[in-house]
Amino acid sequence: MKILLLNGPNLNMLGKREPEKYGHATLADIVAGLTAQASAMNISLEHFQSNAEADLIDRIHAAMGNIDGIIINPAAFTHTSVALRDALLSVSIPFIEVHLSNVHAREAFRHHSYFSDIAAGVIVGFGAKGYALALDAAVDIFATN
Ligand code: DQA
Repeated sequence: MKILLLNGPNLNMLGKREPEKYGHATLADIVAGLTAQASAMNISLEHFQSNAEADLIDRIHAAMGNIDGIIINPAAFTHTSVALRDALLSVSIPFIEVHLSNVHAREAFRHHSYFSDIAAGVIVGFGAKGYALALDAAVDIFATN
C-alpha cells in the first residue's frame, strides 16, 4: 500500500510556529515518526509540503493511479480552497483530513472545512499524534480489495 502525506501552508514552521497551539514537534520530526510507523506496517509513505495551493493541486493530480490513499492537513486552505477540494475529487483517491489543533474550539472561520464532507474520516485536536492515528486507520480505510 502506498500513502501520500500532504501538508499545507505554514506547516513547514511547526516547532517554531505558535507551539501552544501546534506543539513542539517539527515537520521533520513528524515525517520521520510516520515513515518509521509506515515501514513497520509495510506501507510505503511519500511526503510533500507546500505553501502554494497550485503545487499541492499538482501533487494530488500526480498521485492519480499510483497512490492508494492520502493523509492531508490542508492547514489554512481547509477553510478557503474549493480548488484543493476539487483536486481531491478529480483523482478519486480516498483521504483522511488531519488537524493538529481542535479547530472547533477556535475562531468561527476555522469551524468550516471544504474537505470534511468528502473525507473518509477527520482527526482533529490530538496534535502530532493525529497523523499517527490517521496512518493506523489507513490500513483498513484505504484497503483496495
Ligand atoms: C491547522 C488548523 C488551521 O485552521 C490552521 O490554518 C493551520 C493548521 C491544524 O493543523 O490545526 O495552519 O490545520
